[in-house]
Amino acid sequence: MCGIIGITCGSEPRESSHGVLDVLVEGLARLEYRGYDSAGLAVVGADPAAPLWRVRAADGTHSLDVVAKRADEAPTEATAGIGHTRWATHGRPNEGNAHPHADCTGRIALVHNGIIENHVELADELIADGHTMASETDTEVLAHLIEANLAADPSRTLADAVRASLPRVRGAFALAVIHAAEPGVIVAARRVSPLIMGIADGAAFLASDIPAILGLTHDFFVLDDDRVAELRPGSISVTTLDGTAAEPKPLHVDWDLDAARKDGYDDFMDKEIHEQPTAVADTLRDRVLPDGTLVLDEVRITNDELAAIDNVFVVACGSSFHAGLMAKYAIERWARLPVQVDIASEFRYRDPVLDSRTLVIGVSQSGETVDTFQAIVEAKRLGAKVLVISNVVDSSMAREADAVLYTRAGPEIGVAATKTHVAQITALEILALYLAQARETLSPTEARDLLSAMGALPGKVADAVARAGAVHTVAEAYRDASAFIFLGRHVGYPVALEGALKLKEISYLRAEGFPAGELKHGPIALIEPGTVVVGVATRTPVWEKMISNVAEVKSRGASVIVVADDGDDETARHADAVLWVPATEPLFSPLVDVVPLQQFAHSMARLHGLDVDRPRNLAKTVTVE
Ligand code: AGP
Repeated sequence: MCGIIGITCGSEPRESSHGVLDVLVEGLARLEYRGYDSAGLAVVGADPAAPLWRVRAADGTHSLDVVAKRADEAPTEATAGIGHTRWATHGRPNEGNAHPHADCTGRIALVHNGIIENHVELADELIADGHTMASETDTEVLAHLIEANLAADPSRTLADAVRASLPRVRGAFALAVIHAAEPGVIVAARRVSPLIMGIADGAAFLASDIPAILGLTHDFFVLDDDRVAELRPGSISVTTLDGTAAEPKPLHVDWDLDAARKDGYDDFMDKEIHEQPTAVADTLRDRVLPDGTLVLDEVRITNDELAAIDNVFVVACGSSFHAGLMAKYAIERWARLPVQVDIASEFRYRDPVLDSRTLVIGVSQSGETVDTFQAIVEAKRLGAKVLVISNVVDSSMAREADAVLYTRAGPEIGVAATKTHVAQITALEILALYLAQARETLSPTEARDLLSAMGALPGKVADAVARAGAVHTVAEAYRDASAFIFLGRHVGYPVALEGALKLKEISYLRAEGFPAGELKHGPIALIEPGTVVVGVATRTPVWEKMISNVAEVKSRGASVIVVADDGDDETARHADAVLWVPATEPLFSPLVDVVPLQQFAHSMARLHGLDVDRPRNLAKTVTVE
């Protein structure tokens, strides 16, 4: 977890367009989706004899504001700086544990994302050698290890000392280090945790993720595992750990900076809900030829290999898991392949039965979620073909997989997944049709009808998104309710799970999703007068059964809200309130039906005065188990 950033731009940066401190603070604001327990930054000046300057704060969601205010006290001649926004793993979220961490001399400062697994062993050695640890973190040992390696050989540069230190380190890291004695220099390194770099206007910079530095360039470099980079104003040089020169991989990104900003919306979640029609359209773009053939050039699995697949697993977490559940119905129905959908953290430890005829689909918007990453590593080890659906180009999972299908939702900042979720459903539906095409399991007429329905999806999602006002009115009517049960059947079941997840994660209300048919096996005991039940009751093949379940809870005193197809008065008759959506082909309906549930959760959170983009205890990308 955590976000890191760094920039070097020579002396007098405050006069330049990319002042060190401004870039650090703005970049950290755009990295806060990675965690916001604390924030901090450190800068070096132009005089190698001067001390470095460091500020840290742990004031929950206000940490960065505190740091930004104190940035006015920084030396005006800052030549290079590093910053960090934290999601606590080792050590409480307090100022002492906030990054940047310093060595004993206070002249080296370091920021880190990842986990140093052998930190206890390293700390014991360093303490025995006279170092003093000032924090409870796993990270701090790195600063002292680098200090020790610098002291061991005075001819060493900071980069040399980092190269000498990293072979001792076990675990995952993306790190950036500055040293007061080397003005204008940042040394970066990575293993597993993401790190990108860029050069523009005489500056060089790095960050955990693209939105943080998107305003500075569209051309990035990706640092490979176990590489060390030295950033100087306008240049980046990379080596392996033994000092051999290496080339970082270039990466061009078309996103614009506005995509990483709120665009006039009150919060990112609202903006991202409104971007869903575009996310769906962009994910479909260029993948369906006019004659109906699906083209997934980036899927580097041959048609013969696909035709040989005889079973599919989907592994994912959270909203991505729900997208996987939705896909199960489409893949089984259209491609006639058995599909199992697994929570990634369960899959990897349960000794799954896979072989070379198994296709494992890892679904992750970030492509960095550790549970899903480790699940696909395990799947590969067992000989399966691995395809990843990710929103982040060249993410760790994309690099690990045999094949990648990118969703094209653009950067998602709100912690609650919205546009990336609908883009995932879209990508999975494309994949289901692609598998059906390769396996010849659909008639030409069926395939044509489905592709035509698919082409209409961006418009239908736009239609659903435009109804936010009506959804808000329903939310207002239920603002004082404290417990919600979401019910669905068939593809409506994962929609119900997603609706419940959205509501609980941003409004902190009790919300559980169940398959409606399971109700009588226990959950119905929860129903009493005043319980709010939200039923996904659009016209799927099991609509009648769903309506019976709705009637059962209503007769026991529940207040019922239904998601229903436009004009379906028969469904509305069973409900106290209706969230209307445009009707669509049943297997595509999750894309549309989920929209009012996202909006309902968003409205409830706003009505309760909560920060929807930064819900408590959560981080956007979960990179620890
Ligand atoms: C969704 O709103 C969540 N915040 C969360 O469940 C998320 O979907 C999950 O952590 C998976 O993330 P990923 O798609 O980046 O792997």
